[in-house]
Formats: sequence, structure tokens, C-alpha cells
Amino acid sequence: MSTHKGLSVELSDNLQADARATVAVGVYADGERLPATDKLGGRLRELCERVVTEGEFEGEEGATLLLHAPGALRVLLVGLGACADLDASVLRRAAGAAVRSARARTLSFVVPDAGGETLRERVRAIAEGAHLGLYENDFYRNRDGDEEPRVERLTLVGAGASEDLSEELERARVVAESANWARSLADEPGLSLPPREFARRAASMAAEVGLKVESLTAAEVSERKMGGLLGVGQGSDEEVALIVLRYEPEGASQDDELWAFVGKGITFDTGGISIKHGLDMYEMKSDMAGGAAALGALRAAALLKPARRLMAVVPSAENMPSGKALKPGDVVRTLAGMTIECVDTDAEGRLVLTDGIAYAKHLGATRIVDLATLTGSIIVALGSHRAGLFSNNDEWAGAVLAASERAGEPAWRMPVSDDYKKRIESMIADFKNYGGRPDATAAALLLSKFAGETPWVHLDIAGTAWYDDASAYAPKGASGAGVRTLVELACA
Ligand code: BES
Ligand code: MN
Ligand code: ZN
Repeated sequence: MSTHKGLSVELSDNLQADARATVAVGVYADGERLPATDKLGGRLRELCERVVTEGEFEGEEGATLLLHAPGALRVLLVGLGACADLDASVLRRAAGAAVRSARARTLSFVVPDAGGETLRERVRAIAEGAHLGLYENDFYRNRDGDEEPRVERLTLVGAGASEDLSEELERARVVAESANWARSLADEPGLSLPPREFARRAASMAAEVGLKVESLTAAEVSERKMGGLLGVGQGSDEEVALIVLRYEPEGASQDDELWAFVGKGITFDTGGISIKHGLDMYEMKSDMAGGAAALGALRAAALLKPARRLMAVVPSAENMPSGKALKPGDVVRTLAGMTIECVDTDAEGRLVLTDGIAYAKHLGATRIVDLATLTGSIIVALGSHRAGLFSNNDEWAGAVLAASERAGEPAWRMPVSDDYKKRIESMIADFKNYGGRPDATAAALLLSKFAGETPWVHLDIAGTAWYDDASAYAPKGASGAGVRTLVELACA
């Protein structure tokens, strides 16, 4: 599904601030406040200056103010926050806010020149933010005909001929469109995206960009005895699926490393027999956000062509209560042969992931990153700003942490060790799937038993995959969390 008409981004040295234009100008909350006169031109700067010195625009991050100047010139002030704090993340959000509030088809954006980032980094962040900002999730809303104009052409002013930045623009577009693709799936209701449809969407994307599809049907999953995935799916009328996409760079050999991105693909999580409370249950339509992110990252890789073998493995099921559903206390035998007692059927993500991780290893994965909206516990610990990162390997953890930082999707490393093993010890089986707090760590510990010696990172994105409120740069709903991190990692 295309989420918006394509945005074209171009670069220009100076501002053609003639009439009939809309110009976005970043305003700092402190210091000089406005870009230098040579970037803005005297008349435009004078206008902005008045608003700023009168205290009518404070430059707070996320704030915007649209001004009409004589002629048909419009100026969009965009808050950048404190000058010293300007970084790629601020620029990404500012650009998103600018395109969302411009109400114009063409927009010029004056590239701010503070901060430690190079022009290259600033241009990429702004372009990425603009593509991300144009994402909408009102797929099912009927159009009334008189829609607001949306930005179709964006000119970055002050980034002209000095360097060739076309590669940056292309990478920004691919990464952001792939994140938006993942968001559009996570925002899709459970009704219209059961596991088989999820697999079909992955396959049609794969055909579009040239990825290999090796997905398994429910019958094949059943044949292979993936008891974790089958157990979670057995209460639903919708069949499970195991989605597998592969990216092979030119000249790759079978001995080369193979990185697997394993994503939780629960297309709706009611909790099963351990059913959830009703209030925000609808958000659980996005319980496949980790899976969508893994697939989205492969989409970007197919277009950016890093020299690295990659694979996405997404075990997908619908977690429903019914006469056929798993009951608390039931034991499943996973693909790896290990058995798990399901003391809580709402702790289903870890069950499907054990099979996802085992299957990725079966297919030859030499390193694994799994992404999952796994636990409410990680939201208690870290809120919605940082994902929880768990790992069995310091070097791999460091690489993923660094990538997440560069991508502006920060994570925080959390412990996973046998100190917590009581939480997953079962009387009747090898493990149990829930044993009290801290649950995010217990869940990670269970997954680590399936990763074994393979370098593995688990990103618990329960807090970061979903925006609880609309903001200046995004509608309420799926965030695409993880895509940028994985692409950064794969293309480093
Ligand atoms: N998908 C949820 C975790 C989640 C919660 C994601 C909120 C996003 C927002 C997961 O399957 C779940 O239900 N976890 C339970 C496990 C518990 C009952 C053992 C939780 O964390 O409450
Ligand atoms: Mn659950
Ligand atoms: Zn879940």
C-alpha cells in the first residue's frame, strides 16, 4: 500500500524567496535564534525576528507557527529547541513537523547550521524526517474531496552544489519509505491482516524489490513441529504462517556470514485464554510491528544493496481464546526440542520467537537480532523513548546499540543472565513462559536459551513501536521502530 504520493527532495544553494512560496525556518530556543541573514535574506529575517523578539514563538521543539507575509509568501517557523542540543534526531522531527504543517505542495526548508553534524548528516536527517512525516494511517477514511495540499516537492536550502549528496537523499528515501511500509502493516487492523495476508503482503513487496521468499505455510510449520508457533495459533480460525525473506548480495558465497532479523508477528494479541482487559486492546493489532520492521529492513536492503547476506524470519499467528486455544498450564514442544509450560497464554510472543530463532539458526544464521513488542514490563522500565536491548554477546550488542544511536532509535542495554533463571523454571517442562517480575528480563532469558552460542540481540520494542498520541511529526499509531536501526546496522 502506498502511504502517500512520492515526495521529491532537491538541494539548492540559496533561497529563492519570491512570492507564492512557503519557506520553513528553524528557530532555536536560545542563542542567535534565527539563521544568518545571508541564508534568509533581510526582509524574511526581519519578519521572523519580530515574531521571535516579541516572544510569540519560543523555538520549543515540536512547535510550529505559520505566518503570512506580503505577497503570497508564507513562512513556517519550526522550533528546534536549544542550539547546543541540535542533532540528527531534532532535525528529523523538525522536518517531519514542517511537512505536516506546511499546507503547501512545495516547501523550502532552510538547513540549520548549528550542531556537530556534517552537512551530509543534516541533509539525510531532514530528508528522512520529511518522508517519515508524510506518513498517514487513515487508510479507511472516506475522502470528502477538499483535502489539504500535501508537500510533494521539498527544497533544502543551503545544501547546494558544494557536495554531491544524491546518495544521502536516496538512502533517506529508501529507509523512510521502508519504515513507512512497516508502519502501514502495523497500523492495519487484525481483521484485514491475519497471518496469511501478512505473508502475502511480504511476498508482494519481495517481488517488487527483488527478494527471495521462503515462507512456510501452516501445513509446513506443522510438519516441522514448531510447537511454539502452532500452540499460539491454535485458538484462532486463522492459520499461522512463517514468513522468510532473503537478501543475497552479488557474489555472495554460502560461507559468508548470514544475519537474521527475527520479528514477532502476532497479527492480533487478545491474550488468549489469559485474556487482556478491553481498554487499549485494539493497539494489539500492532503486535506484529517487530515482524514488519524485520521485513521493512529487508526491503531497504534490497534497494540499497549492502554487501551482506540478510534474512528476515517472522513467525506469525493470531492469539485468540477459543475451545481450541492453549490453556494456562499447557506444555508445547518447540522446534529446538525444548519444552515450555505456558502458565500465561498472554506471554505468547516469546513462544513464537523461540521457533523463529531456532528456524533462523536452522537456515544458517550466524548472527541474530530479534525485534518484538514483547512485554509491558519494558514500558514500565524505559517508557516509550528507548527500546530494551538484551544480548549474549558484548560486541554484537555494541554494534546494534551504536546503529540504533546513529539511526535516532535509541536503545538501553538491560541484563539477561541466569541470575534470573528462577523466573523461567518449570516443574513440568524445561521452561515456563512467565514467572513474575522482572518480566522483560525473564522473557529475554528464555529467548537466550534458544539463541544458544549464536551472537544474539533482542530488542523489546513494546514501548517504542506505537505512538500513544499524535505529535507534530507523526499521527497516533505505528512508529516503524527498528527499521532504521537494522538498515544502519546492515549498511554500516
Ligand atoms: N504484546 C504484549 C506486550 C505489549 C504490551 C506490547 C503493551 C505493547 C504494549 C505481550 O504479548 C504481552 O501480552 N505481554 C504480557 C505478558 C504477561 C502477561 C506475562 C505483559 O507484558 O503484560
Ligand atoms: Mn500477549
Ligand atoms: Zn503480544
